[in-house]
Amino acid sequence: MRAMKIVTVVGARPQFVKAAVVSRAIQAHNAHCEISRLTEVIVHTGQHYDETMSQIFFEEMEIPTPAYNLGVGSGSHAAQTGEILMKLEPVLLAEQPDVVLVYGDTNSTLAAALAAAKLNMPIGHVEAGLRSYNRAMPEEINRILTDHISTFLFCPTPTSVSILRQEGITQGVHLTGDVMFDASLHYAAIAETRSNALAQHRLLPQHYYLATVHRPVNADVMEQMQHILRAFCQFEFPVVFPVHPRTQKIVEAILAHDGDFGHVSQLRLIEPVGYFDMLTLEKHARAIITDSGGVQKEAYFFRVPCVTLRQETEWVETVETGWNRLCAIDEEEIVARVRSAQGGEWIPVFGDGAASAQIVNILLRDVLSQ
Ligand code: UD1
Ligand code: UDP
Repeated sequence: MRAMKIVTVVGARPQFVKAAVVSRAIQAHNAHCEISRLTEVIVHTGQHYDETMSQIFFEEMEIPTPAYNLGVGSGSHAAQTGEILMKLEPVLLAEQPDVVLVYGDTNSTLAAALAAAKLNMPIGHVEAGLRSYNRAMPEEINRILTDHISTFLFCPTPTSVSILRQEGITQGVHLTGDVMFDASLHYAAIAETRSNALAQHRLLPQHYYLATVHRPVNADVMEQMQHILRAFCQFEFPVVFPVHPRTQKIVEAILAHDGDFGHVSQLRLIEPVGYFDMLTLEKHARAIITDSGGVQKEAYFFRVPCVTLRQETEWVETVETGWNRLCAIDEEEIVARVRSAQGGEWIPVFGDGAASAQIVNILLRDVLSQ
């Protein structure tokens, strides 16, 4: 029997969603194959720690309990990244994995990749080759550096493969499709029976908008958030807005200062929701308004028009097909874009829903053959 050990490092909400389906593919492999065995050791950096930002995803998506929690919590970029580096190194030395899997573009991603690279351990980057070409975004730095030190680059789309090629990265690049598409397909079916989010928030299908905002350029700037909240209060339909903890204080401050803009009943500020409720809210929304990377894609998966509160997006296919439109942070423009949001052409650009199985198969083939 041949064996391979994977250390998976996650820390932030979108990483739990992505890693969940790869964990499922690992377990499915072990259940069906007797000649090779995979061991997955999950490390949670602790970057996200609120129950609604972390634990709920492990429970709903049945992600194996992390063997380690580094407990780094919140902090500056340097403090967070540095602490993960320091705390992860002894874990990697003790575990001696065949490959370290990292996801997306957070500080947990970069710190884990750097810790592994310095120990000469192979790194697999899931969601490689994404670029916004805006280096003011912390995620852009994290993506570029992680891609350039990774051994296996698992790309969600053909665009991401060609971006890596332009940067001279061709070795170890695999077009697998998007693990978030796998997740949406698998868990949306379960969410059908497990979520009553519409009834709970008194919403009718197609008669509400769903919003999320957490990018520092929006969520950390009073003027930007004032434009956004004022826009949200102008619609004839409710706007259900699960508020990310980064955004919480500024939203409270604006409402305390500006009142309810005269339309408070249409704005439904709620706590961050679990994945089942989120999928349900996304699927039935009239349109989605967001600055999240993952939520833009999920809007596309469910064929829901999306307005993205950013100047650029990494997920260019969602815009090119007509489902997603970028929008300046201006009250009137947000209102106009959301009112006119519409669908477009739907092409299976994010793969066939089997990206996670492909990732596991590539690792089995390429790591075990070394
Ligand atoms: C991080 C990622 C971002 C990703 C987002 C997903 C980086 C640089 N950013 O942004 O790419 O899109 O996660 O949600 O890695 N907080 C809590 N409780 C928590 C977590 C955070 O209260 O469980 C608050 C803290 O005040 C913290 C702030 O949110 O300072 C920001 O958290 P942080 O993890 O630094 O960045 P995010 O904005 O969540
Ligand atoms: N999400 C969720 N509950 C929420 C908001 C988001 O389950 O209240 C899910 C969402 O469906 C997607 C992921 O979290 O799968 C996206 O994470 P986030 O927007 O925090 O990060 P980003 O994708 O921008 O990095």
